[in-house]
Amino acid sequence: MSAAPAMARRSMLERVSSCARLIRRAESRDAGVIGAIYDEAIATGVATFAAGPHDAAERREWLAARGARAPVWVMEQGDAVRAWSALAPFSHRPWYDGVAEYTVYVAADARGAGLGGEMLTQLLHEAPALGYWKLVGMILQGNDAGLALALRAGFREVGTHRAHGRVGDGWRDVTVVERHLGAP
Ligand SMILES: CC(C)(COP(=O)(O)OP(=O)(O)OC[C@H]1O[C@@H](n2cnc3c(N)ncnc32)[C@H](O)[C@@H]1OP(=O)(O)O)[C@@H](O)C(=O)NCCC(=O)NCCS
Repeated sequence: MSAAPAMARRSMLERVSSCARLIRRAESRDAGVIGAIYDEAIATGVATFAAGPHDAAERREWLAARGARAPVWVMEQGDAVRAWSALAPFSHRPWYDGVAEYTVYVAADARGAGLGGEMLTQLLHEAPALGYWKLVGMILQGNDAGLALALRAGFREVGTHRAHGRVGDGWRDVTVVERHLGAP
């Protein structure tokens, strides 16, 4: 990165770091920005197997279809939503009822300022009240930030599925991370 864009990014991150942040449940009015942040992450090629684009109407339906144990949160800074996170049941099998998969997505120009860490910490606090005893994350090969985020939040690496799915034409490994929320 040359000096001018690097300075602009640094000053943006300083602003992001210093502004008060609020995490709240996502509402239908957040659908557009949730879709935009999702599509930015999809463009990295290492965040998710999902393909875009996601517009407000599609994300509104997605939000409305989520059950009580699959909530979505957004992080607001100033008047803008800068990140979103979600929990979803890991499996339909009843014996895995206490296991949830998490996702965290931060707007591209706000990454590296601690927002993802705050969102994941908040998910860890919310999950037990939703009946979950463990959070699991699925980290695609090459997602260094996603893996660092999980390890920083106390998750452990379970192992790596080889060629677990495809992004475009390319197979991707997936590293599974987990954190138990109440084990002795
Ligand atoms: C992964 C993601 C959510 C991290 O959020 P973030 O706000 O950038 O992360 P934070 O600033 O809170 O940093 C969390 C930790 O990860 C580390 N980290 C952040 N970016 C990193 C990178 N590119 N490479 C290595 N480590 C990185 C930070 O140093 C920090 O650890 P530390 O506290 O020990 O320094 C964000 O990069 C993102 O939205 N990526 C696209 C979506 C995605 O991949 N989500 C994960 C799948 S669930």
